[in-house]
Amino acid sequence: MSAPHNYDHERRLWDIYAGSQSVRGEVFDSEPVFRWTQYRDHPTAPGPELLGDPESVLELGCGTGRALACLAERGAKATGVDLSPVMVEHTTERWGPRGVRFVCAEVLDYLERTSETYDAIYSIFGAVWFCDPERLFPLAAARLNPGGVIVFSQPPAVPGAYGPQGMYKGGFAGPAMYTYRYSYAPEAWARFLSEADLTDTSVTVLDAPTEGHIGTLIGRAVRL
Ligand SMILES: C[S@@+](CC[C@H](N)C(=O)[O-])C[C@H]1O[C@@H](n2cnc3c(N)ncnc32)[C@H](O)[C@@H]1O
Repeated sequence: MSAPHNYDHERRLWDIYAGSQSVRGEVFDSEPVFRWTQYRDHPTAPGPELLGDPESVLELGCGTGRALACLAERGAKATGVDLSPVMVEHTTERWGPRGVRFVCAEVLDYLERTSETYDAIYSIFGAVWFCDPERLFPLAAARLNPGGVIVFSQPPAVPGAYGPQGMYKGGFAGPAMYTYRYSYAPEAWARFLSEADLTDTSVTVLDAPTEGHIGTLIGRAVRL
């Protein structure tokens, strides 16, 4: 089920996020890093090996671009799509000279229009979290090379709160800016992947390094 997205509104929200001091710092004052989880040091987290050994990668909702810069350093042809023009301007300035290409677009629109294909498509707390998976996964599957993988990570659903979830930005006072996130149990994510004709699906929740803290949902599937 899709939420009533208004991408002009969501673009403004993500532009504000991209312009914040902390996110600018993650773009301009940091080095490439690839992390599937929200924890800087996670002793049991997987790394980029979940993507296989791709020659070409596409990140959906690539934000700061640091993960793409890391894959470009390893020799992959790296492309990122992001809704925010401010973010894309910053990441192009920072990581463009290191060989990463950024496209400013809404991901469903991009996947529908592009004729490019990739060995790996992934999202780290990115657009897989912000798009209806019943629309996104078939479009992403169609842009994967045979044997290619889709991998995504994001917070797990709050128990019992499934489907699109409206989220206000920055608390409950101030401008009414909001977006939608999609939350499902791992079995539901696996079903959406299978319905997009993807195979070898695995969706699990990795525990946080500290007991009782929020874990990370990690999904993976392969195109035959
Ligand atoms: C939490 S941030 C990304 C985190 C990213 N992994 C990083 O390291 O910065 C989410 C990003 O997704 C982008 N985004 C959200 N919805 C999108 C959509 N429908 N199409 C493209 N990008 C989207 C936002 O602009 C934002 O930059």
